[in-house]
Amino acid sequence: MASPSSAAGAAATAAAVAQPALPTTNADKIYSDVLASFQIPRDKMRLIATHMYSEFVRGLSADGAPIRMIPSYAYAMPTSHETGVYLALDLGGTNFRVCAVTLKGKGQFDVVADKFTIPDSAKVGPGAALFDFIAGAVEQFVHTHDLSAVAASSATGELTMGFTFSFPVKQESVARGALMYWAKGFDCPDVVGQDVVDLLQVALARRAVKVRVVALVNDTVGTLVAHAYKAPATVMGCILGTGTNAAYIEQLAQVTKYRGTPTPTGTMLINTEWGAFDSEGKVLPLTQFDRELDAMSNNGKQQVFEKLISGMYLGEITRRALVHLVEAGALFGGKLSTPLQTVYAFETAYMSTIEADTSPALTAVGQVLADHLAVASTTLTDRQLVKSLVQQIGTRAARLSAVGIFALLEKMGVPESKPVVVAVDGSVWLKYPGFQDRLRAALRELMGPEKAALVSVETAHDGSGTGAALIAALVDKQH
Ligand code: BGC
Repeated sequence: MASPSSAAGAAATAAAVAQPALPTTNADKIYSDVLASFQIPRDKMRLIATHMYSEFVRGLSADGAPIRMIPSYAYAMPTSHETGVYLALDLGGTNFRVCAVTLKGKGQFDVVADKFTIPDSAKVGPGAALFDFIAGAVEQFVHTHDLSAVAASSATGELTMGFTFSFPVKQESVARGALMYWAKGFDCPDVVGQDVVDLLQVALARRAVKVRVVALVNDTVGTLVAHAYKAPATVMGCILGTGTNAAYIEQLAQVTKYRGTPTPTGTMLINTEWGAFDSEGKVLPLTQFDRELDAMSNNGKQQVFEKLISGMYLGEITRRALVHLVEAGALFGGKLSTPLQTVYAFETAYMSTIEADTSPALTAVGQVLADHLAVASTTLTDRQLVKSLVQQIGTRAARLSAVGIFALLEKMGVPESKPVVVAVDGSVWLKYPGFQDRLRAALRELMGPEKAALVSVETAHDGSGTGAALIAALVDKQH
């Protein structure tokens, strides 16, 4: 990585979170130790970024490295002139969506999308049930939106679809890829090692749905491509949601493990799978709560970076820290409740409500504690302590996200003199109060204000669906 730039002046601004009074008792000391364990000062951020940078390089040179750096086989970026109607499937987070994207050229597009909730029973167990559910949703979508005519008027008599599948896939071509491992609570073991496009195509055929899947896309790659359709200076697509990950534009010559054709010149989009970074916990400052969460998760010692950042886990980290503090007598008069002791009972969305509460009495904080944790009566001090803890955990997530973005920009060697755009999507980015400001402030700390001014971190709308449709359009043109 390039030597640290002179950003000393910007030190630690984003880490500043209102702290309750100084410790006077043992319980107070335990509280302030817990709070401190979530802090990541600037030097530590830079150290993590340096390690991450070398892991990116390692992932580009060999299969099986911790950060997978998966070639997407998407070489081209959109020209903004693509047109036509394409379907997109978006599977990988809390919701599953089917979209019809009408590309209108000049960077303009319309999206019609239906959301479906995947039943928990389909998320774990035999893969056939999951893919049948998905195919059923596509069938329903085609019927509801009367798309049979679009299919009939196409050269093949079928609709063309891009499949956004937001899990680590060993991609073999733009439309083929085998699942490496599940994440985010999904676990259908018989799918691991199988081509997910085949599984989908077979499930669609069983229902005689006239759809041809021509592109398999990670949500980060989709986000990058979709944002580039409107903003050509986009160099990175990043998801900060139920899970986290980023994709970027890499020189093929740098992808030393890549042996395919065409000959390695030009660029390819790389899906980093950065969520797997430092799963050994070598440089990430894991707290006891992170370690406990990892140990009880269904993917222990995997996706550890993701577990510190993403919406699937932030609430549970908070709950564990709260339990510790109650047991130490530092909160709620030392009284535990059943929900407080229930794994995953505290959702990341509650943290957003807590952070958004600026009322003097912290009424909304009290409401969350009463409604969701069955802690009926709290003191103002309790509520202040809870809010500060939540702020610290949310701030850590924002700062680590900035570390990832910084390390990847360094890998690309940008920005030099021209501005670049980082496109971001995901529920944490969109819905967590203050997250965007904290991330941008941490980037300024890492890069220095001048360089950071050349990086525009923007919200990508509808990235994963539109991106898959765009890649489907690009692939379609090649045939
Ligand atoms: C998956 C990635 C995905 C990210 C964001 C992670 O759990 O491994 O493939 O891009 O979540 O959805």
